[in-house]
Amino acid sequence: MVNKITVVGAGNVGATAAQRVAEKELAKQVILVDIVEGVPQGKGLDQWQSAPIELYDSRIIGTNGYDETENSDIVIITAGIARKPGMSRDDLMNTNAGIVKTVSEQVARTSPNSIVIVVSNPLDVMCYVAKKATGFPRERVLGMAGVLDTARYRAFLAEALDCSVRDIQAMVLGGHGDTMVPLISYTSVSGIPITQLMERSVLDKIVDRTRNGGAEIVAFLKTGSAYYAPSAGAVQMTEAIVNDQKRILPCAAWLEGEYGMNGLFLGVPCKLGRKGLEKIIEVELTPAERVALGKSADAVREPMAKLS
Ligand code: APR
Repeated sequence: MVNKITVVGAGNVGATAAQRVAEKELAKQVILVDIVEGVPQGKGLDQWQSAPIELYDSRIIGTNGYDETENSDIVIITAGIARKPGMSRDDLMNTNAGIVKTVSEQVARTSPNSIVIVVSNPLDVMCYVAKKATGFPRERVLGMAGVLDTARYRAFLAEALDCSVRDIQAMVLGGHGDTMVPLISYTSVSGIPITQLMERSVLDKIVDRTRNGGAEIVAFLKTGSAYYAPSAGAVQMTEAIVNDQKRILPCAAWLEGEYGMNGLFLGVPCKLGRKGLEKIIEVELTPAERVALGKSADAVREPMAKLS
């Protein structure tokens, strides 16, 4: 357990993440911040009142300011607008860049030693905004996307194979968008390569559904985007850091030569521990996977270049 975890943005993703952090007792205090007056206070109070039932002592406090967030150990940034049907994540860019910049400046001022986990979309570009605005080293700015994309992939695989989600190991790398790269060569069920258990045509359909996993949910919801799985993903990363688990999870990390790339955030296998990003693991890729990762990087660089 750490002393304080702040969640910025008390909307669907943020409020659900705060509740999950509290239920896992990852911090003594969980601070929920939003610009809308009353919303974080109301949600925070409601959540705190679930503590005697769910049996946790993490104290959730809602606020519109940053004083209460001072010296947070971890800050999860979910502030921004969510997608509506027909919108891509990149359509959110300028609005969310402004929001993430403002939030990150406040975080750097009040919690200069914190580890930041970005969830706002378009994810890889928002991580870059957060890194620039905080001035934090790459060890302390990470993005949550790969964990979510991998969870979607694993859920679809478990469903198709009628087996436990627990036994499916997989990794989805690259940017958080249509160009993400599910690594078939590293997908297995209790160590059995997936290609031995499933027809390639079925697997290809699952890969495709994974790529469009977020859009499928947006089409159903119509007024917002996914939040149960995204919040679970952010909290899995948080838990790995708080408990120094040294877990290897696909996260958006700032590349400095890894995979032959520099100067962008991209989903890669990361070892997470109490210091944040402790190592980027470079796995061998097939030529096709390498090409796909390069294309995915291009799809991140393009909106990055348009950032005003
Ligand atoms: N500071 C704090 N909170 C802010 C700010 C700001 N400057 N600007 C907006 N917010 C808040 C909104 O008031 C709202 O409560 O961010 C919250 C966003 O919540 P939702 O609209 O419910 O969106 P959500 O589904 O939570 O998604 C948030 O995460 O997955 C991504 O694409 C998604 O970028 C989106 C983000």
